[in-house]
Amino acid sequence: MKLFTSISLLLLTGGSAALTVREVQDGQTGVLMVLPPRQTDTGSKPIPDPAHPYIAPGPNDQRGPCPAMNTLANHGYVSRNGITTFEEMILAGQEAFNMDQNLIAGMIVPNFLAHGNLFTNKISIGGISPFVPPLPGNIDGPATLGIAKHGRVEGDASLSRSDAFIGDNRNFNQTIWNTNLEEISQFAVDGPDGPNTVVNVQTFIEIKRQNIESDQALNPQFAMPLRRYNAVFAAPAVALGQVFFLVNPTAGVTNRNFDTSLFSNGTTNLLTKNILNSFFEHQTFPAHWFRASAPVVAATTGAFNAEIAAGLPQWFPGHNDENGVFVADPPAPAPFNTSIACGAYWDQIVNGTPGSLANATGILKQNVDLLNGILFAGSKCSQSVEPAGPTYV
Ligand SMILES: *[C@@H]1O[C@H](CO)[C@@H](O)[C@H](O)[C@H]1NC(C)=O
Ligand SMILES: *[C@@H]1O[C@H](CO)[C@@H](O)[C@H](O)[C@H]1NC(C)=O
Ligand SMILES: *[C@@H]1O[C@H](CO)[C@@H](O)[C@H](O)[C@H]1NC(C)=O
Ligand SMILES: *[C@@H]1O[C@H](CO)[C@@H](O)[C@H](O)[C@H]1NC(C)=O
Repeated sequence: MKLFTSISLLLLTGGSAALTVREVQDGQTGVLMVLPPRQTDTGSKPIPDPAHPYIAPGPNDQRGPCPAMNTLANHGYVSRNGITTFEEMILAGQEAFNMDQNLIAGMIVPNFLAHGNLFTNKISIGGISPFVPPLPGNIDGPATLGIAKHGRVEGDASLSRSDAFIGDNRNFNQTIWNTNLEEISQFAVDGPDGPNTVVNVQTFIEIKRQNIESDQALNPQFAMPLRRYNAVFAAPAVALGQVFFLVNPTAGVTNRNFDTSLFSNGTTNLLTKNILNSFFEHQTFPAHWFRASAPVVAATTGAFNAEIAAGLPQWFPGHNDENGVFVADPPAPAPFNTSIACGAYWDQIVNGTPGSLANATGILKQNVDLLNGILFAGSKCSQSVEPAGPTYV
């Protein structure tokens, strides 16, 4: 590995001086990541704005397993080629979905740690791209694989993608989606678009029941490890789309206070079949759609996540054994066994993040520490851990 660090002194007007450190490794220039501030304008508004029209992706543009991220790219809220940065994703999630900074950061960070280039601050929302080089020194293999790569974050029991073992885990699967639509036609409640069109918590419990049961039976390698279990039930920590199924309860059968959600129409607080089809099938904002009227916060999405999980108590962190029987994974070691959220943090860093990052120096080290710190802050754990997962996977 070649490491050149050149220090240039920039003399600024007015006599003040700034010291900039330029770090180059393997011909790549390091970029220090920064957590952008919270947006100040947090009300509802029509999305997309005129500056962000839908343009279908071209043949070389990257798209992947996350419908929301694909939608952001199809509208240019992140780069239309599907290669983006930490800051660009945070700003896009805030602007287009009114996501609170913590919520969007908690979803992006595991993906960046798992399959982004944390030195150049680039990630593909799909697969391998010439615009995202391998980490300097190939410390995690000869390519940076992107968020579609199965295993560290991307996983089984998706709402709209096949398990990697079964088929295409990257692109929308109409067969799977049709089974969701059947559940919606049965369990959704009546609304402005007609009978059985407004999706609520119970609808999602039924959809997830169907998804998980089907994948567990069809996929001998079916797995929901701790870091994935939360995501399957809409954890804000992992960006896989399930979180977008959080429905405003005022629309549903339950009687609770108003909570904002990502996909609900911000003016009616309703999540409808039409809206879901737009995001999932077409990866575009619905016509006449408004973002939430207040920031969507992790506490809300976490509460829904827990509610959906509680509706399916027969499913827990686990995997299929050699006989195709679903068995529990061992719990996280103490002191990381105090909550699912803490266990998921531990599992993500210790098993889902390349251990070679623990030896990083300079800008790479600062970026790893920033992202690990963000995940730790949202984890409810009493102590942090260092990356220790397998490399080249
Ligand atoms: C779509 O899902 C169905 C049902 O699980 C599966 O049989 C099929 O192989 C999947 N298609 C692709 C392209 O993965
Ligand atoms: C959102 O609500 C507004 C106000 O009721 C309505 O005009 C619009 O059609 C709705 N949009 C969607 C996508 O449901
Ligand atoms: C965590 O693990 C320790 C050691 O095995 C055990 O004593 C403790 O009861 C566990 N805590 C929880 C909340 O399960
Ligand atoms: C970190 O570096 C040390 C010393 O070179 C080495 O022994 C260790 O295996 C490295 N750890 C990882 C996870 O790469």
